[in-house]
Amino acid sequence: MLNPEVYILAVESSCDDTAAAVLCNDKVLSNVVANQLIHNQYGGVVPELASRAHQQNIVPVIDAALKKANIQKEQLSAIAFTQGPGLMGSLLVGSSFSKSMALALGIPLIAVNHMQAHILAHFIDEEGYDKPEFPFLALTISGGHTQIVKVNNFFDMTIIGKTTDDAVGEAFDKTAKILGLPYPGGPLVDKNAQLGNPKAFAFTKPKVPGLDFSFSGLKTAILYFIQKEKQKNPNFIDENINDICASIQYTIIEILMDKLKMAVKETGIKQIAIGGGVSANSGIRNTLKEAEQKYGWKTFVPKFEYTTDNAAMIGIVGYQKFLSQNFENASVVSKARIQF
Ligand code: KG4
Ligand code: ZN
Repeated sequence: MLNPEVYILAVESSCDDTAAAVLCNDKVLSNVVANQLIHNQYGGVVPELASRAHQQNIVPVIDAALKKANIQKEQLSAIAFTQGPGLMGSLLVGSSFSKSMALALGIPLIAVNHMQAHILAHFIDEEGYDKPEFPFLALTISGGHTQIVKVNNFFDMTIIGKTTDDAVGEAFDKTAKILGLPYPGGPLVDKNAQLGNPKAFAFTKPKVPGLDFSFSGLKTAILYFIQKEKQKNPNFIDENINDICASIQYTIIEILMDKLKMAVKETGIKQIAIGGGVSANSGIRNTLKEAEQKYGWKTFVPKFEYTTDNAAMIGIVGYQKFLSQNFENASVVSKARIQF
């Protein structure tokens, strides 16, 4: 018989956020994230600095997660950690810590795929939030990934579309950099866009066959556009920042929506769930909600704290794997690149 109350400690350290969460079954008791601000001054994540910061943060973050959940480590049923994809030096900190703690406590160890976790975050039990039914389509949009995934079941997923170059988060961050906005630029583009006219400037959408995406051409087009306009008016960016951000965001959303519409047509599936850091974007969230009326879709937009990297999403996958006794031994290795 399984223990009816499963307590999972989840650890996420794939990139530049050190995160820990405690779940009781599918409910989140605590969800703690330490952001690494050190990278902002370098305009992007510096892998070596990320692993060092994880080492400093991991003990206090796990301690805080246990305290907030009011759970003693002896009560834990298992430890779930991010196996990949991500930066190897960052992943190693979380996996080594989780292995040691699971060994010391004599409890099972569970390896979690970060991208699966962004998708399965929708199964965290939250009041007022519906869960998708299988099969559904997931649009995972982050700083490292842009994918459309057909989700048949918890661990039966097929990538049906992906980026051929930059991820959508990079498109936001790199164009923000062109505009002189600090890293990470995505949230700032979003903030300025809310005050601007999305049709002020038109950018050409890339022509990519099928359900795949491309964002590097858009970045170049924006760079040339800005250079040209600045030659005419050196204050062009300052005077038009809101309209520029709104137009860039509008174009990115159009690119995503065109492919989603195509994916719905191809699969006949009208349930769409979004996940990953970029799903925090207010324009994307609004457009998806509007699509419910416009196209008869049912859309699932996670709570803000479950969009950017967090450990609660690792915990919900950990819980599902616990139920099927899908455990690892201490020889499990971190993987910088993994598919589903
Ligand atoms: O999932 P995530 O936290 O980390 C990765 O696994 O990459 O995603 C981070 C990305 C960054 O590119 C960041 O600029 C973007 O998510 N992002 C946003 C917003 N909030 C975060 N992009 C657009 N609008 C936002 N509000
Ligand atoms: Zn992520």
